[in-house]
Amino acid sequence: MLIKDVKAKSILDSNGNECIEVSVNNSTASIGYGMSRSSKEAIAYPSQGVGFVVNKINNELALKLKGMKIESYEDLEHVEEYFDTKTLGHNALVALEMAALKAVGNEVWRLIDKTAFKLPTQLGNCIGGGAHIKANDAPDIQEFLLIPRTDSFEEGFYANLRAYKLIGNKLNTQRKDMENAFVPRLSCMEVLDLLHDIILKIKDELNVKLELGLDVAASQLYKKGTYVYKNFSNERKEKSLTTYEQMLFLSSLVQDFNVRYIEDPFHENDFESFSKLKKLVKSKCLVTGDDLTSTNPLFIKKAIQQDSINAVIIKPNQIGSLLKMREAVFLAKDNRIQTVFSHRSGETLDSTIAQLAFGFQSDYVKFGIFGKERVVKLKELIKIEKSLILP
Ligand code: PGA
Ligand code: ZN
Repeated sequence: MLIKDVKAKSILDSNGNECIEVSVNNSTASIGYGMSRSSKEAIAYPSQGVGFVVNKINNELALKLKGMKIESYEDLEHVEEYFDTKTLGHNALVALEMAALKAVGNEVWRLIDKTAFKLPTQLGNCIGGGAHIKANDAPDIQEFLLIPRTDSFEEGFYANLRAYKLIGNKLNTQRKDMENAFVPRLSCMEVLDLLHDIILKIKDELNVKLELGLDVAASQLYKKGTYVYKNFSNERKEKSLTTYEQMLFLSSLVQDFNVRYIEDPFHENDFESFSKLKKLVKSKCLVTGDDLTSTNPLFIKKAIQQDSINAVIIKPNQIGSLLKMREAVFLAKDNRIQTVFSHRSGETLDSTIAQLAFGFQSDYVKFGIFGKERVVKLKELIKIEKSLILP
C-alpha cells in the first residue's frame, strides 16, 4: 500500500470530549480517551489540544508520509520514525497506525497472524461506579463484569446482553455510567448478590454459564495510605481499609461470590500486594494489571519479576504506539500471562481494537455490553467468527 493521502480531524468521543480521527487513503481510525487513567500512561495530546495536532498532521506530516510504502505490521516503524510524539502526543500516532493498517487490508488481523483461529472470552461491564460516574451513592468498585463461558463468541454476546436487560428490569434505577453500565444505589456485596441471581436466571433460560469479574480500579480509592469506600456496607457507610484489609476483603469476595477475575485490586505502584493476593487466591482467580502495568513492557517486566499478575490489560493508547503494544503482548504471552484487550471509558465507533485482539489471539476482550461504541467492537468479532465458519 502506498500512502497517497493522510487527513486528520477532531471528532467527539462518547463522553463528548474532543478526540482524533485519522484517515490514510480511504481508511479511517479514531481513538477514545479514558477517565480512570494511570499516571504511567503515554501523553494523549499536547497541551495545545486536539486542534493543534489536527493542523500539524494536515499541514506538515501528511506531506512527509506521502509516497511511503506500508505492507506489514513491521512497516509501522517507518510511520513512527516520522511521527514526533513529543509535539503531537500519542493518540494521533495510534489512530494513524490503525488507519495505515486498515489501508493495507480491511481485515487487519491477517497482517498480524494469518493462522489466528480462537475468539477471545468477553468481560462485560454490567454494573459500575467509581471514577466512571460523578455520584456519591454509586458502588465504589468501578466495574462488575460478566464472563460468559460459551463456545461461540456470538452466544456469549447475547447471553451478556440478556443478563444486562434482566439487571435493568430488576433495578429501580436506569442511571448509567460512561460505559453504559447500570449504577444502582447498592453496596458491593448487594451488587454481587443481585448478579448471583442473574447468573442463575441465565443458566435457567439460556443454559449459559456466566462468571463474575471486578475492576476495582483501586488507585481511584487510594487516599493517604488507605482504600476509602463511600458505600462499603449495606447501610452505605464510609469505610477505610488498610492494604491488608483490602486484601482480606477481596479474597473473601473470591471465596464467597466465586469472583474469577480481579483487575487493579491495589493502587498502581503496589506490585507487592498484587503478588500476595495472587498467592492467596491461587489459580481460582485472575489477578490483572491495568493501571499497574499500563501496557508498558517495563512495568509488565517488573510485574513478572515480582509474580504480581496472571493477566494484563492491553490498551493501545495507554502505551501510545502499536509497536510497543505488540512488545507488551509478546512479553505477556512468553510468560504465560493472559491478555485482555480493552476499550476506554470514552470511546468512538472505531472497531480496529477487535481486529487487533483477534490477530494477537487475546484471551479476553473488555469492550462493554451495550451502547453503539461498545457493540460495534463486539459485532466486529462476531463478524470474524462467522467468516471463519463460512469462509
Ligand atoms: P478508563 O479505564 O476509564 O481509563 O478507560 C477503564 C479501566 O480502568 O479499565
Ligand atoms: Zn481497569
